[in-house]
Amino acid sequence: MGRVIVAPSILAADFSRLGDEIHRVEAAGADWIHCDIMDGHFVDNISFGPEIVGWVRGLTSLPLDVHLMIEHADHYVPRFIKAGANSITVHVEPEAKHGVAKTLQQIRDAGCRAGLTLNPETSFDSVEPFLDKIDMLLVMTVHPGFGGQSFRADQMQKVKRARSLNSRIDIEVDGGINAETARISIENGANVLVAGTSIFHATDYAKAIRELRGDTG
Ligand code: DX5
Ligand code: ZN
Repeated sequence: MGRVIVAPSILAADFSRLGDEIHRVEAAGADWIHCDIMDGHFVDNISFGPEIVGWVRGLTSLPLDVHLMIEHADHYVPRFIKAGANSITVHVEPEAKHGVAKTLQQIRDAGCRAGLTLNPETSFDSVEPFLDKIDMLLVMTVHPGFGGQSFRADQMQKVKRARSLNSRIDIEVDGGINAETARISIENGANVLVAGTSIFHATDYAKAIRELRGDTG
């Protein structure tokens, strides 16, 4: 695998000055911008929708990595594509109320990268049949809904298993990622790191991003 990709989650950014926050992480070496979309149904929190993603698109040329924690993703996918998403990740759980194979195809047909994700409680078996139909597997390392939770090391077996089955796809981890848990995730085969708190609550964003990459020099 090549270089580690760092995707700051703007959920932890200061939304009263979102433009400044995005310019700061971009200057600090971020590779992608991770946008967490929550609908108050699939997860117990509400964040923001396609309109804000469109604003973010206007603020940066970095790829926008959109993580849909919503019901009926198929209904909203076209709006996020129109807003400028480069990758869209959907949940595999039945509670997300969509046809997983169909939604993944819909994302790809629109020329966008397709990602699939699973909650910590969900078995790896549910995503395994899709591994050759996706560009990225997102292994949630916290139960989704809120930033600032602790990393669940027990999820590393999913990362390991996915990497042993497929060397082509991106494997992303999301939740509680800091310098230490990033190192553990990379060791197990992850190559994309989502981080909210450990970047946006740091005083030096560039140092935080370097540390996530394991570059302490
Ligand atoms: C969790 C979200 C994450 C979250 C990560 O529901 O999907 O992207 O923002 O935040 P930290 O890095 O604070 O755990
Ligand atoms: Zn996320």
